[in-house]
Parts: sequence; C-alpha cells; structure tokens
Amino acid sequence: MSTFHEEISKRRTFAIISHPDAGKTTLTEKLLLYGGAINLAGSVKGKKTAKHAVSDWMEIEKQRGISVTSSVMQFKYDDYCINILDTPGHQDFSEDTYRTLMAADSAVMVIDASKGVENQTIKLFKVCVMRHIPIITFINKMDRDSKNPFELLEDIENVLGINTCPMNWPIGSGKEFKGVYDRKDKKILSFTANNGQKEVDKEELTLDDPDLDSKLFYGQKDQLIEDIELLDGAGDDFDLEQVRSGNLTPVFFGSALTNFGVEPFLKEFLNITTSPLPRETSEKTIEPESDFFSAFVFKIQANMNKAHRDRVAFMRICSGKFEKNMEVYHAQGDRKMRLSQPQQIMAQEREIVEEAYAGDIIGVFDPGIFSIGDTIVSPGQKFKFKGIPTFAPEHFALVRQKDTMKRKQFVKGINQIAQEGAIQIFHEPDSGMEEVIVGVVGVLQFDVLKHRLENEYNVDIIMTTLPYQFIRWITSDCDVKELDLASDTKIVADFKDRKLLLFRSFWSINWALEHNKGLTLEEFGTNE
Ligand code: G4P
Repeated sequence: MSTFHEEISKRRTFAIISHPDAGKTTLTEKLLLYGGAINLAGSVKGKKTAKHAVSDWMEIEKQRGISVTSSVMQFKYDDYCINILDTPGHQDFSEDTYRTLMAADSAVMVIDASKGVENQTIKLFKVCVMRHIPIITFINKMDRDSKNPFELLEDIENVLGINTCPMNWPIGSGKEFKGVYDRKDKKILSFTANNGQKEVDKEELTLDDPDLDSKLFYGQKDQLIEDIELLDGAGDDFDLEQVRSGNLTPVFFGSALTNFGVEPFLKEFLNITTSPLPRETSEKTIEPESDFFSAFVFKIQANMNKAHRDRVAFMRICSGKFEKNMEVYHAQGDRKMRLSQPQQIMAQEREIVEEAYAGDIIGVFDPGIFSIGDTIVSPGQKFKFKGIPTFAPEHFALVRQKDTMKRKQFVKGINQIAQEGAIQIFHEPDSGMEEVIVGVVGVLQFDVLKHRLENEYNVDIIMTTLPYQFIRWITSDCDVKELDLASDTKIVADFKDRKLLLFRSFWSINWALEHNKGLTLEEFGTNE
C-alpha cells in the first residue's frame, strides 16, 4: 500500500493540445495502451472504420471530426498515475482549452510534421504559453513526408516565442524515415513500421556502428552527423529549470500511428514533469500534501449522457485526499455538502471514485450550484482559489427561439450553456430574456450553441449576427442612460446585471472615453 505522500508524488496531470488532425487522439490512445487502460488501439475515430476515439463523444465532434469539449482520462504506467486532459482541437474553443490548462501541471503539444504550427493553432498554443507551465512538444507523423526539422523548430520559436530543445532528431521522413537519434543516449532508434498495436521492436545503433551505413539511405548518415553538430553547437541546451518555467520546450519526433517513439517520449516526459504543483489562493499557497482536501471547478458539462440529462462539474484536486461520501465546504455557496456521485471518467465509461488525491480530476453531479472557478474544501478551511479569467468575446449574435411556446426550454438551455462557460450571454438593460445577445470567442461556438439547443433542449433558434467586435465592462459608477456614446455603440447587461458596452471599432471606444469624463472600462469579466 502506498502512503499518502507516495500517492501524490506519483501523480502527473497534463493537458494534450493540438491542431485538428495532428494526431492528438492517436497519441492519447497509444499512451492509454501503455497503461493498459484500453486493450486495443485503432478505435481512433476514422472515416474508414466509422468508429470514434474513446475521448470523442459529443455528436457535433463526430460530425465535424473536431474536439469541442475536453474530457479527462486516467491511466497507470510504471507506478505513475497519469491524468490526461483532452482539449478542443480548434482555436475557436481556446477559452475552454485555457480553463483545462488551469487544471493541468504541464501540457503536451502535438504538431503535424508536414504542417508545423498552423495558423488556426497559433491562438490555441499561445494560451498554453500564457500559463507558464512546462510544454513538451511531440512532432508527429514522421512516417509521412515532413517539413525540414530545423524549420519546424524555428516555427515553434517564432510563433510561440519559446525556445526549443530537440531531445531526439529524425533521420529522413516519409518513405525515407529511418528512425530517430537520441541525443542523450547518443543512439539511433531505428524505425520499422508495424500496425501500431505496441511499440515497434527496438533496434538501437550507435553512430560508429559498422552496420549503420547499410541501414540508412545514401547521404543520411552524413546529414545526421552534420545536423547533430549544428544542434550541439548552436541549439539550446536542455535545462530542466527553463523547461519547468515554460521558457524552453523539449521536442520529440515520432509517429503515433505506427507507435514509434511514443514510449521513449512517455518515459522522458515523466522525468521532466513534476508531481502536482502548489496552488495560489486568496490567502495562502496550498501545498498538495496538505492534510485537508481542496479542489476547484474548471469545467461544467451538461448532458454528457443524453439518456441521463445530467450535469457534471469537473474539479481538480489541489491538496489532500478525497474520499467518497466525505463532507466538504463549497466556498462560493457558503455551505457544507457531500459531493454526489463522484466519478472518474474514461471517455464514456464512468467509475465511481472511492478515493482520489491531489492532482486527480473528479467529476461530480451538479444540481446547478457550481460555477467555473468555485472552490471546494474540507470544512473549517476558508480560502478561495484564484478565479479563472474569462476571455473577451469577439463575435456577437442576437438569438431568439422560433417557437414562442418553447420559451421555458430556451431560457433554461441558454442559461445552462452559459453557466458551462461555452458562451456568454447579455441582454438589453431592463428587459427580460426575450432576445438574448450571445457573445463568443470563436464563431464555431455559435454552431455548437445551435446544435445543442436543438438536440439537448429541443429548441430551434433564429440567430442574427451583430456587427460588434469589442466588449467593455463599465467599472465606474454612472447612469448608463446619461452616457454620450457614438451611434454604433450598444449598452447591454450581463447575467449579474452589470452594464457593458459593445463597440464596432476601437475608434468608438476612444470616443466613449473622451466624451464621458470619469468613465472607466474593463476588457475582461470574471466568473466571480
Ligand atoms: P486529432 O485528434 O489531432 O484530430 O488527430 P487524430 O489522432 O484523429 O489523427 C488524424 C489523422 O491522422 C488520422 O487519420 C490518423 O490515423 C492520422 N495519424 C495520426 N498519427 C499519425 C502518424 O503518426 N502517421 C500517419 N501517417 N498518420 C497519423 P484519418 O485519415 O482521420 O483516419 P484514418 O483514415 O487513418 O482512419
């Protein structure tokens, strides 16, 4: 039996992030395969097999082949207990990714070797850098023709402003892919394609091996020696401190589909990353080994299972141990409670959790009391974790239900989806919810809203796009009716009836500030 401290020290909690199609699902599956969490890889969503990856369950995800919401999986490997947080693979859902990153201690970034950092991914990857957590890069699909590896590194450095340190180096790509050179062991791990069910049989060679020439294509050995010299001379050295502070990303090359380089990556990843990190609160720093339980809600998901019509709040445990049926204190609700149906989720499979430790993620049944950022602690503790910032929406639409008889469902649906943080809702001051103004960070969120209202709440909606691009909360005391505003500026209120302004341009923002003495505006709201 492990002690309490051992249990915590073997935890690793990371988020996995990538551009759609870069291979995040495939890599996740291969990792789960090592942990024995699934028996067979190849249940990856595939147009051919019409099966869907274990971590992809929402209908719209299946239709579009993108991940919209994040799910959580746990597996054990080599005495470690690893929590993977899947993230949406599209930058329109960067806010969801950011919230998931709040619950992680590190991130794995998967990049398609033939594409590099893609335009659509820049915003998504940047939120990763904003969190200052270790980012480990896996450059995938080396079994396909790839970009020049130096170019790939340059891409990451230029776009993300983070230094790179290749841990291994590829020899060729596509049909000429021969394996990778491990810079620490100074050995070549040669590549043989297999069906990807398990790690390919290992064949290791040193650079001075007489057999090497016959195993490589003409010129590959010289190219490799030249590349390594260049890297050793001009590249960034591996520096664990720099990695842990998020300034340097270790880079691994491999091929998830053929399961090449996945296990060496996993092993090194476990060395590089740390056990759960301390967390800041309103009063003090909370150490994971503290003897009290504490957690915060980073995600709320309604209707995960249509048949159950349930709502699950996901929380990251920050300290102590969770035991089923124990009493906790919900700081924001100021009341004691028992967490109902605590579960750990392996995609669609749910298991009731008997116990969980700092670093773990649990989902609990939420009767509508939790909000994103809420703190749950052992009774007697009186602190709140620092809130999770909300992103300023950049797209707005006026939304109303088609069938006025369905008003109740419409109000319920739109409110629940807003509580999940998937959209932000506003209304005209002093008016009801007849028409709702919806604000989103990425336009795809509108599609998700429409789809979910239709499918989960049985409400058809009419959506009219509004021309606003900027939102500002009014933080000074004033009567909004008295404000002198440009004609294209709109006054709205949020769910707490705080007043805001929607603008079409920066010019109108300046106009408002110049014409209203004492007016102060704030770009970001909070969940608090
Ligand atoms: P995502 O979650 O990041 O969106 O990507 P996913 O793992 O679903 O992979 C996207 C596609 O890329 C899949 O093909 C997958 O098989 C393929 N893929 C993933 N890793 C590798 C790799 O290392 N090498 C190669 N060559 N391909 C890889 P698909 O066309 O969507 O499905 P299927 O036709 O292969 O079934």
